[in-house]
Amino acid sequence: MNNQNKARYAFGMVGLGTMGRNLLLNMADNGFSVTGYDKSEEMLKIFEEEGAAHQLKGFAEIEDFVESLQTPRTIILLVPAGPIVDSVILELEPLLAKGDIIIDSGNSHFTDTSRRALALAKKDLHFFGMGISGGEEGARFGPSMMPGGDKTAYSVVKDMLEAVSAKVNNEPCVTYIGPGASGHFVKMTHNGIEYAIMQLLAETYEILKNGLDYDNHQIQQVFEKWNNGRLKSFLMEITKDVFLFKDVKTGNLLVDEIKDEAKSKGTGKWTSQVAMDVEIPIPTVDAAVSTRNLSKLKQLRLQLEKQYGTSTPIKAQENFIDELEAAFYFAMATAYAQGMHLLAQASIQYEYNLNLAEIAKIWRGGCIIRAAFLEDIYQAYQKQPDLAHLFADPNVASQLKDCSLATRNMVSAAIQAGIAIPALAASLTYFDTLKTGRMPSNLTQAQRDFFGAHTFERIDSEGIFHADWNEKK
Ligand code: 6PG
Repeated sequence: MNNQNKARYAFGMVGLGTMGRNLLLNMADNGFSVTGYDKSEEMLKIFEEEGAAHQLKGFAEIEDFVESLQTPRTIILLVPAGPIVDSVILELEPLLAKGDIIIDSGNSHFTDTSRRALALAKKDLHFFGMGISGGEEGARFGPSMMPGGDKTAYSVVKDMLEAVSAKVNNEPCVTYIGPGASGHFVKMTHNGIEYAIMQLLAETYEILKNGLDYDNHQIQQVFEKWNNGRLKSFLMEITKDVFLFKDVKTGNLLVDEIKDEAKSKGTGKWTSQVAMDVEIPIPTVDAAVSTRNLSKLKQLRLQLEKQYGTSTPIKAQENFIDELEAAFYFAMATAYAQGMHLLAQASIQYEYNLNLAEIAKIWRGGCIIRAAFLEDIYQAYQKQPDLAHLFADPNVASQLKDCSLATRNMVSAAIQAGIAIPALAASLTYFDTLKTGRMPSNLTQAQRDFFGAHTFERIDSEGIFHADWNEKK
């Protein structure tokens, strides 16, 4: 029997863990014929139980799985990023035929995706790096998806991706991102922004908790109110709910029972590393990454707290909470602006030809960083696709101007009290630096030339200059 007679399914998934399973169920709900492959009998069992309504069946043998797919085959990988992706590709490769498509939907590093795409292209196989955001819930009921790869091959999966994605104003939260590893680059940047916003929420919590002595209920109320306004976002929404969640073990609020040591899987760090490589400053993201690392130094922090003392209360003015809201808005806007700036540069450097308006558009729903503010970002790049920086957009600029004094007051108050606000402070100093027409970097150049003859440029004439700094005048 040839393949076409046996082939039953339009799409196949490798990896039936929570994400893979939920995405397949979502695809089945949308009328697509799907199957999955997983070595684990337990995963297959759960998949078939959860997919009983659609009579979903999975495979424990990769050959049977591949044979069951219609050609050109479309195989989605939802396995842990790293060497496992390579080993799955190695298993699949001999079983595939010209024109088949593999879509890696994990959080792979974009350089791994480039390498894999190039290697597979030599064998006439298409390899897509597709970031998926939205967690378990998103995969099941509508994620935001960032696919990058061969544009012609994209037409095979376009309708399916649009059907299963989240929708905003009836528009799908998925778009063709660009060639090569652009999909994973954009997802990585999404996660960098995610780290920054989460850190800003943590700093706001710290100001309310230790600066103002608010309890969890009061903090919940503040976040709830904000979430009904311009700060409306998925992260604000879930954060407010965290504060009232009861621990079944102790009966206390769970947030107070959790260790203050944050873990990470690496995507935030990659964003900072890559931003350094392409020389685009994203200090709010950097601060978020560093602060997760600071959080791990628990013993040292306890020791130094004893040595230097704790923070002191903040003497709050009447409009303090409103100013805190404005400061959050300011720093949040800064985090998104840095992410978009990084994407603009990557687009040039890696020839991704990114459409920043479209990226903001598909981040408006389904993903972890979805927020009301993404509509402003979408509008800004829609109006001006070659916008040099989000801060230059007239609408964003007028909001930042309105919030800047409150942000200064908030940063000053926290610093006076000794409350650590690395991401908030980094956002403000980034803004102040970016709006400084003449920076003190002339001095840096003079120093470099003094000790290392690294030369400098002059403001009054073209060319490269060197001075004999030790010469006595
Ligand atoms: C998403 C999330 C998802 C994952 C993060 C967690 O967009 O759905 O970003 O990809 O939850 O990677 O990252 P850390 O473990 O590094 O915090």
